[in-house]
Amino acid sequence: MSRVFITGSSDGLGQMAARLLIEQAHEVVLHARNQQRGQEALSAVPGAETVVIGDLTSIAQTRKVAEEVNALGAFDAVIHNAGIGYREPRRIATEDGLPHVFAVNTLAPYILTALIHRPKRLIYLSSGLHQSGDASLRDLTWEQRAWQGQQAYSDTKLHDVLMAFAVARHWPDVFSNALEPGWVATKMGGAGAPDNLDAGHRTQVWLAVSDDPAAMVTGEYFYHMRLRTPKPAARDVERQEALLAACKRLSGVALFN
Ligand SMILES: NC(=O)c1ccc[n+]([C@@H]2O[C@H](COP(=O)([O-])OP(=O)(O)OC[C@H]3O[C@@H](n4cnc5c(N)ncnc54)[C@H](OP(=O)(O)O)[C@@H]3O)[C@@H](O)[C@H]2O)c1
Repeated sequence: MSRVFITGSSDGLGQMAARLLIEQAHEVVLHARNQQRGQEALSAVPGAETVVIGDLTSIAQTRKVAEEVNALGAFDAVIHNAGIGYREPRRIATEDGLPHVFAVNTLAPYILTALIHRPKRLIYLSSGLHQSGDASLRDLTWEQRAWQGQQAYSDTKLHDVLMAFAVARHWPDVFSNALEPGWVATKMGGAGAPDNLDAGHRTQVWLAVSDDPAAMVTGEYFYHMRLRTPKPAARDVERQEALLAACKRLSGVALFN
């Protein structure tokens, strides 16, 4: 039996992954943005151990999420699932002055990776759209560029792959992988999404707990439980390090010394 923490498990793929893990007799700690969503998450996922509360748009609250997770003891796996989509019509600034999408999709998993006691497995939810992410990493916070919601989202999903691969390199004792779930009909994906919703949560569960040798690898990218080739720039060590350096500067949290 494994113990798994899943960010953004009040809805969508995070909630589905939580249910499947519990069905398989694993222990799951949920996460939601506020108390009300936390209560809703607990009702929707019977058998979950508890829920940790914190809005990932806020650096302070994200740090607190990590503290609360650590206070719950050790975890075998963390699934960095929480995310916001590509439909933000303008640059919405967080309390820290960052674009929402960057704060939730890039900086929050960075901070949580740095501050949560190291699990055995880390899984980062990316997207096929990471292929269109800007590998130059210029203007990460959209101060110079004219806002484009889909580009901002795609950039962050490339960041998630860069992060997974950087962590795999730095922590060889941890399985750190990224995946794309397919375009599926969650709140984010929208009702008309064409891919198989039932396949959308299985890869992250498999990577989190399975003894299948194919799941016990690191620094890889998956789609529907099979290896898929990520954007080649994601393998570029200099870019990986540049992203980590930027996240360190923007969050004040160091992932590696
Ligand atoms: N659906 C797709 O087609 C698709 C495709 C490719 C990749 N993905 C990736 O899959 C992951 C899950 O997406 P999904 O489709 O399941 O989306 P979803 O249904 O919109 O669920 C997103 C989850 O993240 C939570 N969340 C968002 N912002 C948060 C914040 N500031 N603080 C705390 N929690 C927050 C949401 O909380 P609330 O419920 O309170 O909003 C929800 O639990 C994302 O990383 C996404 O990029 C999805």
